[in-house]
Amino acid sequence: EELRQLVDAMVGGYLPTLDQMEGLLSLDREGAELLFQGADRVKRSIFGDEVHIRGIIEFSSHCSGRCLYCGLRADNRGLERYRMGEEEIVSCAREAIDAGYMSLVLQSGEDGGYTREVLGRIIGRIKSYKDVGITLSIGERTYEDYRYLRDAGADRFLMKHETCDEVLYDRLHPHSSFRRRMECLRQLKELGYQVGSGFMVGLPGQSLRSIVLDVLLLRKLDVDMAGIGPFISHPGTPLGDSPNGDPFLALKTVALARLVCRRPHLPATTALGVLDRQGRDMAFFSGANVVMQKLEPHRYRRMYEIYPKPHGEDLPIAEERRRLEALIEGLGLKVSKGRGDAVRP
Ligand code: 5AD
Repeated sequence: EELRQLVDAMVGGYLPTLDQMEGLLSLDREGAELLFQGADRVKRSIFGDEVHIRGIIEFSSHCSGRCLYCGLRADNRGLERYRMGEEEIVSCAREAIDAGYMSLVLQSGEDGGYTREVLGRIIGRIKSYKDVGITLSIGERTYEDYRYLRDAGADRFLMKHETCDEVLYDRLHPHSSFRRRMECLRQLKELGYQVGSGFMVGLPGQSLRSIVLDVLLLRKLDVDMAGIGPFISHPGTPLGDSPNGDPFLALKTVALARLVCRRPHLPATTALGVLDRQGRDMAFFSGANVVMQKLEPHRYRRMYEIYPKPHGEDLPIAEERRRLEALIEGLGLKVSKGRGDAVRP
């Protein structure tokens, strides 16, 4: 009863204390139902029953970063790498647009092999084919690069803060720092990008309190999108012996983020689906309103191994989209026809 009152107050806009939020993340399955229902009410009040499908083109697996958790890290020599060429990226995007995609994410490792001029030309060519929403997810670059790419037509940028625990962050990212990450996020906002952030749940050394603070950081950053998913251990990394994050905790964190941050687009993350197939679908009833679908040729998808994952059936882009739409409609939800732009207050 007390729990019901707390969740009702949060649906009405009440910001709970840190201890209350930790309590919500500690709920068992039964208690969490109330949390999920509250998050679902807030989600429906903003997005109705619409799910946005975003297409993602993972165009290069080369990465100069050394993130301790990530399979793409430069030190992982056990991975075959690829780079898609300009024509290949643009034709993949056109095929996706023809299949109905209105929102495309261009993602890669931190790959200096693509200059801002090349990326800008790719953005321009996609935009002139159709004015879809274009999101970049290419990591830390110079302010000049960010400005150039914004001018070239990029609408959005995804850059997860990964963890707000600065000591943990700096340990996990020997090539960079938490301060640098925050600087990039500030620059992206200043340049007028719709900004997405997010973090992992269940990183080794991460506390429940720290996850609460991650949610509050999203609120403070006032993000337009936030990807929240469980950590998945990759054997080719220094964290190969660490246990996976708890997908149920990740699901509760998505629900908490919906209640606390309200308006951001929240994907039912791929990582959540990998650890718990049903958990990903449940996320659409626990605050999530977005799903991402990979678009690059399947031979590349297998190589883009941020974490180990099953490889799906090799189907054309249009057929994959039809199946995803059928899945969403099978859940009693509707597929959005829009670009999935930020909902600004
Ligand atoms: N488990 C879960 N998520 C991961 N990411 C990277 N490595 C892992 C992992 N082992 C996420 C990070 C990064 C995004 C590209 O993928 O949040 O920002």
